[in-house]
Amino acid sequence: MSTTRKGGRKQLTVHRGDRHARILGLGGYRPERVVTNEEICQFIDSSDEWIQQRSGIITRRFAREDETVIDMAEAAATQAIERAGISKEQIGAVIMATVSHPFQTPAAAPILADRMGLAHPAAFDISAACAGYCHGISLANDMVRSGTVDHVLVIGVEKLSDFTDKYDRGSAFIFGDGAGAAVVGVSDTPGIGPTLWGSLGEQSDAITQRESWTDLRPAMEEPGREDGIPWPAFTMQGQTVFRWAVFSMAPVAVAAVEAAGLTPDELDAFVPHQANMRITDAMIKALKLPEHVPVARDIAETGNTSAASIPLAMSRMLDEGEAPHGGYALQIGFGAGLVYAAQVVQMP
Ligand code: UT7
Repeated sequence: MSTTRKGGRKQLTVHRGDRHARILGLGGYRPERVVTNEEICQFIDSSDEWIQQRSGIITRRFAREDETVIDMAEAAATQAIERAGISKEQIGAVIMATVSHPFQTPAAAPILADRMGLAHPAAFDISAACAGYCHGISLANDMVRSGTVDHVLVIGVEKLSDFTDKYDRGSAFIFGDGAGAAVVGVSDTPGIGPTLWGSLGEQSDAITQRESWTDLRPAMEEPGREDGIPWPAFTMQGQTVFRWAVFSMAPVAVAAVEAAGLTPDELDAFVPHQANMRITDAMIKALKLPEHVPVARDIAETGNTSAASIPLAMSRMLDEGEAPHGGYALQIGFGAGLVYAAQVVQMP
């Protein structure tokens, strides 16, 4: 902290803002129940073969009915804090990236902080869909570097099974449930590269909740409705999103590597949002990623878990020895908004 006087007016005291930050620990949680493509195909006209070929998904996990995003986040966050080697009292802020916490308010982050017995940290949610975790990492990096806090808990968590229309052929097979978490803290060396991010609000209808909550009000107020209340499930224009991801996200990924002062062959892992195996393959080509760089393919067994997909995939790669601890990973999230964020991080 420093205080100086200029022109007679006392200058504000501010944090020093010259520190580095990195990810100190990662954690992940996958719900127990494995859901096969056959089970999904009970409700849509599709096949295991089509789903595997078009998306790369073999199975996904669904949370129990009584299992919430807070429950899943707690499991992932507890592991991340343990692995970071800090005490939970040291967490100064909680950033929760989710689009499936089923309360408009209050946010999920303060409830999680209380559940975990954290020391009343700043706690808030961000809504950036599948790019939410990368947005959270960027914010946490800036918060730690500027001295606002020493340790930030960043969580990506989704219970998408609650917001998926199981009869919708365009999306029923894509989504899964899960949580991933990272502790971002002070570091001697830079561990989070510059974030490349942006939005394309003109395509906000490409992935969207079907009706707004207020659209449902008249239906809720109708006395004696026997067909139940219409549910505002998420819908997706798959091809529109696919084309955008393939053509527009690869240059962002390339730019994030350049901004970090690296070349693709200096990466130790590539962890794109687990949206579709074919999108991942197209990005590898566009990046001209050398074969020796391991690529996250967690979608096969976890499905698309939106904000949770990147930390879940990265922690799996580390746990299974597929990516080296301390190595550099390119991560890129993209989804509803449309919004995106990419950065190179040093893996814990
Ligand atoms: O996480 C947020 C970001 N999300 C994404 O990045 C997802 C991006 N999109 C996708 O991953 C893909 O668009 C999907 C996997 C959702 C769909 O794959 P696609 O290759 O884009 O399929 P399509 O919509 O172009 O449909 C191709 C064909 C059509 O038949 P015709 O017209 O060629 O005869 C569809 O009617 O496949 C048919 N089809 C299906 N067939 C079996 C569409 N959905 C299904 C289905 N099962 N579920």
